[in-house]
Amino acid sequence: MPFNGKVRDAAPSAPAQAAPAQAGPAFPTTRMRRNRRTDWSRRLTQENVLTPADFIWPIFVREGDNLQEPVEAMPGVVRYSCDTVADAVGEAKDLGIPVVAIFPFIEPDLKDARGSISIQEDNLVCRAIQAIKAAHPGIGVQCDVALDPFTSHGHDGVLDENGEIINDDTVDVLCQQALIQAQAGCDVISPSDMMDGRIGAVRHALDTHDFGHVQILAYSAKYASAFYGPFREAVGSASTLGTASKATYQMNPANTDEALREVALDIAEGADMVMVKPGMPYLDVIRRVKDRFGMPTYGYQVSGEYSMIQAGALNGWIDGEKCMMESLMAFKRAGADGVLSYFSVEAAKVLKRG
Ligand code: PBG
Repeated sequence: MPFNGKVRDAAPSAPAQAAPAQAGPAFPTTRMRRNRRTDWSRRLTQENVLTPADFIWPIFVREGDNLQEPVEAMPGVVRYSCDTVADAVGEAKDLGIPVVAIFPFIEPDLKDARGSISIQEDNLVCRAIQAIKAAHPGIGVQCDVALDPFTSHGHDGVLDENGEIINDDTVDVLCQQALIQAQAGCDVISPSDMMDGRIGAVRHALDTHDFGHVQILAYSAKYASAFYGPFREAVGSASTLGTASKATYQMNPANTDEALREVALDIAEGADMVMVKPGMPYLDVIRRVKDRFGMPTYGYQVSGEYSMIQAGALNGWIDGEKCMMESLMAFKRAGADGVLSYFSVEAAKVLKRG
């Protein structure tokens, strides 16, 4: 009851209105286009920026000499041999790109069901790390920890007799893989397999082997996505995986609360940085992750996203350069601290040009 004795009008109250974000007179006093009128003003009111330091450049390597072998499903992307990769990385470094991520194409006859080659100290990945680090000690090198490029069945783990991925056995192999990569000079270990508990196990393995300084960028919210198609051609797992699905370990594209649980677990297990993958169709997930945890958060603009833009551009349907820059900025706007993108070098060149 009001204590001053005044009784409110009993007339039905107006429906509650949401408070405007900013109180103030609206049109015509407020004209949003005023700030957009001139170039200087648009620059002044710009909320997000993209710089070469936002990029992680994924590169493919394979055995051979003097190779820059085109990946058919990814126009503009090549596989390097260990003798050509350092020059390519040098260009990225000179453009201000802080880190590259190595992905191997393994010769089919070197693959087996356990992905044994993934834990051999002199394997392709380790030699590529060494070649890059010898030539460019100042650039960061990141490596996936997962078995799919190395297994004869194309899955990210080891299988039991029924074809199920055995979680804990797989994690043991992943730890060994992380250790040989760290030993070869890898700066950032990036588990992309989606096994449970692998971040904690890899952190422990690194810490107990004098690699306490090696960072972990966890593929935390990684979805079972059809947008990985061209990548699987690039690393040669398209044929080994066939029509098999990764849905028993990668996430359901319909879920986002689950992404927050995945990220929370990876942080608790010791991840230094977290990732959402794919990127453009999952910007909502990046935003939620960034808002909830405030972690260094990255989005992966995956192969299918890259190839769609390239296909549109090559057909003259879209302006490739503009779409590239807009798509990358969208990650920043969504809250990402950086983007893994096959466009990294091209985009850094555009930024340098100004
Ligand atoms: C391997 C891995 C994949 C990608 C990165 N690491 C493929 C997959 O999980 O099947 C996809 C990257 C891309 O599509 O660009 N675990």
